Amino acid sequence: MPPDEGDARLRERLVAGDGDALAEVYDRWSGLIHTLALRITDDAAAAEDITQDVFVRLWQRPEAYDPERGALRTWLCMLARSRALDWTRRREARARYHAVAGASAAAAIVSADIDESVIWHTETKVVREAVQALPDLQRQAVQLAYYRGTPTGRSRWSSTSRRVRPSHGCGSRSPTSPTASPPRASSSAEIGGVGGHGRVASPRVSIVEELRAAGCVFAEDEARLLTAGADGPADLAALVGRRVAGEPLEYVLGWAEFCGLRIAVDPGVFVPRQRTALLVHEAVTLLAGRPSPPTVVDLCCGSGAVAAAVAAAVGPVTLHAADVDPAAVRCARRNLAPAGGHAYQGDLDAPLPTALRGRVDVLVANVPYVPTAELAHMPPEARDHEPRVALDGGGDGLDVLRRVAAAAPGWLAPGGHLLIETSDRQATAAMAAFAAAGLTPRLVTDDDLGATAVVGTRIH
Ligand SMILES: C[S@@+](CC[C@H](N)C(=O)[O-])C[C@H]1O[C@@H](n2cnc3c(N)ncnc32)[C@H](O)[C@@H]1O
Repeated sequence: MPPDEGDARLRERLVAGDGDALAEVYDRWSGLIHTLALRITDDAAAAEDITQDVFVRLWQRPEAYDPERGALRTWLCMLARSRALDWTRRREARARYHAVAGASAAAAIVSADIDESVIWHTETKVVREAVQALPDLQRQAVQLAYYRGTPTGRSRWSSTSRRVRPSHGCGSRSPTSPTASPPRASSSAEIGGVGGHGRVASPRVSIVEELRAAGCVFAEDEARLLTAGADGPADLAALVGRRVAGEPLEYVLGWAEFCGLRIAVDPGVFVPRQRTALLVHEAVTLLAGRPSPPTVVDLCCGSGAVAAAVAAAVGPVTLHAADVDPAAVRCARRNLAPAGGHAYQGDLDAPLPTALRGRVDVLVANVPYVPTAELAHMPPEARDHEPRVALDGGGDGLDVLRRVAAAAPGWLAPGGHLLIETSDRQATAAMAAFAAAGLTPRLVTDDDLGATAVVGTRIH
């Protein structure tokens, strides 16, 4: 999706090695980053280090920032947050270690000589049982180190409940970038909570390091998700390998978080973007005034994320979706099945049942809208992995939008609405296209999401 022009331009300049661009970004955001890091760590020196680290990271790998997925300010904040949380975890781990060592239990862990595979299996019932069978002192030590002493025994590795999808993945890497697992640093062992005497490093930590070395900004979050999604150590290694090779995290996991839902996403299908939640919010608001169950159509549906999210929020709904890409339609069918939705394959509205003509309450379409000339400048994760048909909007990026706008009035019920995502700079032309099609256009934006959309209403 077309990014904020200012941020996209800054990225280009950073990629070109323009030091003034770095100075600009630093002047603008270093105060915010420092405040954020300080708030999380409550440690002035750490906050300074983290601030420094964030801007060094931006300078060294500016291509890892994907303007399409959000503002630079947000990305820097997420980076700082991730670093600050790492720092606090290390501090906690150090404290835990000293507490354990003070009780002479660290030696028990050390002597247990737990290898990576065994650590992996602490996630499993088998090892949980094995841990229960350990002598008291050893069991307490292991639990202290790996379970944070929680009564439920929920491992620190197993958090899948967080609904945060790391919105960035590995950035592009130069061919010479390290992709192999780096040697474990002493800090890695500390994060694992049993460090200091040269024995066990948590595998999650080694994965975090590996992902980080490959340019993954949210390495901690990604490691947790990959670990939770893997079917054993060999599978985990394969997933991490795919991620390190630059595949989008969502393809590796097989799902993306969108509007609080877990949306199945197969490789080659457009990964739903957080900003598209604006279309969902608007659709849900507009449907509140329509008779129930309303009829919703999602054109250019991709995985069907938008339709699925609308259905989840609205309740009973008659749902139809279509996409030209068979892989997308397969995905959409899976995602829309719980809501009883239908997904068709074909060009725009061509495959829709004609019985829907004049009866659609909301027609939503996140069409491709990247101008063709800008495709080459897209981040590699999108450019190399998502299909061109999902991105390319033609010369000015509005080819598909114009076609959908022209077709929409024939499908909309009187008072029905067409909703299409666009970008700030395309908004005026997009609104003109809606008006030319006989719809009454309205612009909606959400600064937090960095999202812009045009809503067109069929008045008569
Ligand atoms: C930007 S993606 C959006 C996917 C999904 N709506 C979402 O937000 O995650 C655009 C989608 O439009 C589909 N598409 C492009 N041209 C199309 C056409 N002429 N007819 C139907 N679908 C098309 C692509 O296959 C792709 O899935």
